[in-house]
Amino acid sequence: MAALSFQLHKTDDQSSARAGSITTDHGVIETPIFMPVGTVGSVKALSQQQLKTEVDPHIILGNTYHLYLRPGMETMEAAGGLHQFINWERPILTDSGGYQVFSLAANRKITEEGVTFRSHIDGSKHLFSPERVMDIERTIGADIMMAFDECPPANSEYRYALDSMKLTHRWLDRCWTRFNDTPDKYGHTQNLFPIVQGAVFHDLRKASCEYIASKGATGNAIGGLSVGEPEPVMYEIAALCCEHLPKDKPRYLMGVGTPWNILENIALGVDMFDCVMPTRNGRNAMLFTTQGVINIDNKKWERDFSPIDPGLNCETSQYYSKAYLRHLFKAGEYLSLSIASIQNLAFYLWLVREARKHILAGDFKSWKDEMVPRLKTRL
Ligand code: GUN
Repeated sequence: MAALSFQLHKTDDQSSARAGSITTDHGVIETPIFMPVGTVGSVKALSQQQLKTEVDPHIILGNTYHLYLRPGMETMEAAGGLHQFINWERPILTDSGGYQVFSLAANRKITEEGVTFRSHIDGSKHLFSPERVMDIERTIGADIMMAFDECPPANSEYRYALDSMKLTHRWLDRCWTRFNDTPDKYGHTQNLFPIVQGAVFHDLRKASCEYIASKGATGNAIGGLSVGEPEPVMYEIAALCCEHLPKDKPRYLMGVGTPWNILENIALGVDMFDCVMPTRNGRNAMLFTTQGVINIDNKKWERDFSPIDPGLNCETSQYYSKAYLRHLFKAGEYLSLSIASIQNLAFYLWLVREARKHILAGDFKSWKDEMVPRLKTRL
């Protein structure tokens, strides 16, 4: 069993887009890739079988914060890790919990040691430290474990962003030590990806990239974006980070974004993405399609009996009509949640596969410039 490796097949001539493959003990991930979010060990509203046959992602994501609280690490260990527990034999990445603690938990308090918080489920009190989080991610058994970081708010002052970045770096040192001191738990090799922070400040981002790169990890992540800053600022910071992160390792932009955000960031040199948007917005009747964005709640779809997305080679997108899906949403039927989530995820995976094809064919930039306005169209 071997640590993750990254093969770069092609870098675009007219942009910084790359096509590559990441090899893990659970299989190969072709990049650029979008990773569906399976927070509690389930990509919401999809069965594992639907996920494989209709969406076919090479990797999915789980959340340390949620899985630690429920079902808990004793059950996880007894199951033999998350792959076994959910019967998913492909790669899994786990986010480290820092970000989720800030968005979900109550009474959170940051100290040098870590973060104390109260569970959003039962109010019980917990401490996440870098060491604790490494132990939890080991027990979940993710192929890619994320370092424990602090993601400062978009509007942070320079001083706060600086202190926060330094804390993230000290926590990374502790994560790194713990990770190296503990063995792989289930026979496959686990990898630790560090996370760049530094809010919107160029000098901090550059310093953070250099610090993160010095660890020599098998891959690196960019955090703290898509947290409320304007889109041009997100692109500016992502471009700067890609410039300063190693070229021979995969770059993962956390929590991004819309379909056009994904294409623009691929052009800047990002290889991996995750976001709740396709599933969360899907459950709220917002569809991403090859022709643009659809609010399926809208009356204009009431008698539109054409397939949900004729341009997508996905059985669900062809099988059901827009009018029927609208009806299911209006009637509050559970099936609406599955159909919309499958459509959106199948579309996101189609988008990154198309991007890869065009990078390899050498016409990514012109394809991307034509796609972005189309994908933004409100139908
Ligand atoms: N998900 C989206 N952004 C972030 C981030 O900055 N840190 C972590 N750990 N997860 C994220």
